[in-house]
Amino acid sequence: MYKIKIGMKIVLLGYMGSGKSTIGYLLANTLACEFLDLDTYMERAEGISIPEVFEQRGEIYFRKKEEEYLKEVLALEKDLVFSTGGGTPVYGRNMETMLRATPNVVYLKVSLDKLVQRLAPEKEGRPLIARIPDQELHEFIGKHLFERSFFYQKARYVVACDGKTPEEIVSEIQSLIQSL
Ligand code: S3P
Repeated sequence: MYKIKIGMKIVLLGYMGSGKSTIGYLLANTLACEFLDLDTYMERAEGISIPEVFEQRGEIYFRKKEEEYLKEVLALEKDLVFSTGGGTPVYGRNMETMLRATPNVVYLKVSLDKLVQRLAPEKEGRPLIARIPDQELHEFIGKHLFERSFFYQKARYVVACDGKTPEEIVSEIQSLIQSL
């Protein structure tokens, strides 16, 4: 089985609902290494859920902590598949920080229609879209994705995910990483 180098990280990024956690978990299992999700890491460290962080402490606090925890995780000396939050690459110098830490930065690219389809039924648990009326969701996500794509596209690898199974996406990522 292919094994990543000690201390090597594979970082997954992409919009909310792009499958970062699902793919990350599966990829880590395949590579027999640890999987870590930045939101989960923050929830553990803060002792409250992400929606609660937004509600009780605000987005500015969330973004500051997100940057701090990102650096903390990237400094861990172990193999990791690491999924970021949808906004992580967009704030501060996070994208540069990730690209400097590892060559394995992968953008999971999912079409707008597919994202809206996935996010509409679960928007309540997502602070940034929870209050967007259903009929405005497509337009909101479209604009948001457009703004964020500039940052996502800086990833070393872009994997188009529409129409592929999680297993297919995982093996595509593996072959990209192996060809380093
Ligand atoms: C956010 C995405 C969320 C979470 C927070 C903010 C964003 O992560 O970090 O709600 O700015 O897009 P997921 O992309 O894992 O849902």
